[in-house]
Amino acid sequence: DIYGAARANPVGRDYSRDSERAVAARAAQVGAADTIAAGPIVGGSLLAGTGPRPMTSPVDRTQLIGAVSEATPADIDLAAKRARAAQPAWDAMGGTARGRVLRAMADALEANMDRLIALLSREAGKTLNDGVAEVREAVDFCRYYAHLAEKQFDGLQPLTGPVGETNHLELRGRGIFVCISPWNFPLAIFTGQIAAALAAGNAVLAKPAEQTPLIAAEAVRLFHKAGLDPDLLALLPGDGATVGAALVEHPGIAGVAFTGGTETAWSINRALANRRGPILPFIAETGGLNAMFVDTTALKEQVVDDVIVSAIGSAGQRCSALRLLFVPEESADELIATLTGALDALVIGDPADAATDIGPVIDADALAMLEEHRARLGREATILARLDPGAWGARGDFFGPLIAEIPRADFLGKEVFGPILHIYRYKADELETIAQGLADTGYALTLGIHSRIERFAERIRALVPAGNVYVNRSIIGAVVGVQPFGGEGLSGTGPKAGGPHALLRYAVERAVSVNI
Ligand code: NAD
Ligand code: ALA
Repeated sequence: DIYGAARANPVGRDYSRDSERAVAARAAQVGAADTIAAGPIVGGSLLAGTGPRPMTSPVDRTQLIGAVSEATPADIDLAAKRARAAQPAWDAMGGTARGRVLRAMADALEANMDRLIALLSREAGKTLNDGVAEVREAVDFCRYYAHLAEKQFDGLQPLTGPVGETNHLELRGRGIFVCISPWNFPLAIFTGQIAAALAAGNAVLAKPAEQTPLIAAEAVRLFHKAGLDPDLLALLPGDGATVGAALVEHPGIAGVAFTGGTETAWSINRALANRRGPILPFIAETGGLNAMFVDTTALKEQVVDDVIVSAIGSAGQRCSALRLLFVPEESADELIATLTGALDALVIGDPADAATDIGPVIDADALAMLEEHRARLGREATILARLDPGAWGARGDFFGPLIAEIPRADFLGKEVFGPILHIYRYKADELETIAQGLADTGYALTLGIHSRIERFAERIRALVPAGNVYVNRSIIGAVVGVQPFGGEGLSGTGPKAGGPHALLRYAVERAVSVNI
C-alpha cells in the first residue's frame, strides 16, 4: 500500500523530563566545544575548496561554530565525473537494495539525534522541540522513500495487453540530480531531497544553503557511514549565484530539485530553459502567502493555540507558516485580546534551553528585512503586541515576534518570512473579494480554516487555492506519508514531498512490449 505510511514512528524526545533535558544539555556542551569543518565532500573526502569562511551562531554572533569552504568548478567537475561512473550500478541494483541503504541512514539519524538537535540549535537557531521534529522528519523521509523505492522501483510492473504480447512499465533513475536546499529545514529538506533522488536510482550533487552547511556536512557523512557509495553523493557548498548556478548549468546533470524562494526558482527555471541538450525536469518547492479564515462558530481557545504555533512558532520561519489571519468583525476584539495575551506568555531566548519558545531568526539579513517590515507596519498598520527580545537582541539575531492589524486585506502582497501575524477583520460580504485577492496573488501553499460549519470550510476551500488545507488545526508540521506537502502556482511544481508520487519526477518511465 503506497498510500499508507508503512513505517515505524521515529524515536522522539520529551523535554518535560529532567533526564531528557540533561541529555540535551550534555549534547549542547559537546557541540559547543567542537567546531565543524565543512566544505566540498567528493568521493567521501573533504576537499580544500576556497575559503574557508568562519561560521558563527545566530544565537550569539561571537560564538564560532565551524568553518566552510566553497566548492570550486574543478570540485564540481570531479563530483559529476565520479557520480556518472557510480550511478548506473546504483540504478541497476533496484529499489529494495537502495531502500536498505536509506533505512540504514534513518537508523543513523536516530542514533545521532541529540548531537544533530544540538547542531540545529547552534547553526539554525532551532528550539529543542523544533530540532526533534526536524530529525524525525528526516528519518521519516528516508524510511518513506525506501518504502516507495521497494514498491515502485523493483523490476517491471505488468500492464494489460493483447494475447501474445507482454507489456511492462519500468521506472529507472535519470542520472545525476542536483539538490538545492534552504536553511529553514537544513536537515529535513536537505536529507529528504537527497533520499528521494537516491531512492529513484540517481546520484546526487547536493548544495546546502549558505547559512547551514555544517549540519548538511554531518548528514552527508552519515549517509556515507550508513553504507552509501560516497561517489553517489557529493556535498558542494557555496553561494547560490556561483556554486548553485554552476551546478544548474553543468552539462552532466539530469534534473534539479530545489526548495527555496520563488524568485530563486524563476532564476533556476530560466537557466534550465537556456540550456541546449536534453530538457530537464525541475522540481521546485517555494514560498507562500498563507492565510487562515476563522468564522464566528470557531472555538476561540483552539484558534488561539493553532494561530500562535502556526504564525509565531519556529520564529515564523516555515514556508507553511501563517501570515494572514482573517477574523469576523463580530468576534475580532475578543479573539485579538486572547491572541495578544498568548503572545505575551511566550519565552524568547536560547533555543537550546527547553523553556524557550522562540529562538533567533537565521541571520542579520533576515533581521534587517523584518525590522524594515516592522517599520512599515508602524507607519501603515497598527501593531497590537510585540514580544521584546531584551538582552538577546544584543547577542544574536533575535526579532521580537509581533501581531499587527492591517487596514486592507491585500496589504501584504508577498511572503514576509518571520514571526509576524497580520490580522484583518472582515465583514461577511467581503469574503469572496478577499478569497479572490488571495487566489490572484498566485501563491497556493497552505490554507487554514477554523469553523464548526462544514459549508463555510467547503466554500473557503473552493475559493482559495492551496496545496495543503487544514481545517480546525494548525497549518504547520506536515507529516511524511500523512500530509504530503507542497504547493501550486508560485508555491511549487509538485510532486508533493512525503507523498506517494514523490519519486516519479526523479525517474524516467520505460514501457517494454514483447511479442511472444
Ligand atoms: P533561497 O531561494 O534564497 O535559497 C535556497 C537555495 O537556493 C540556497 O541553497 C541558495 O544558495 C540557492 N540559490 C540561490 N540562488 C541560486 C541560483 N541562482 N542558482 C541556484 N541556486 C541558488 O531561499 P532560502 O532563503 O534559503 O529559504 C527560504 C525560502 O524557502 C522561503 O521563501 C520559503 O517559503 C521557502 N521554502 C519553501 C518550502 C516548501 O516546501 N514549499 C520549504 C522550505 C522553505
Ligand atoms: N513541511 C513543513 C511544514 O509543514 C514545511 O511545516
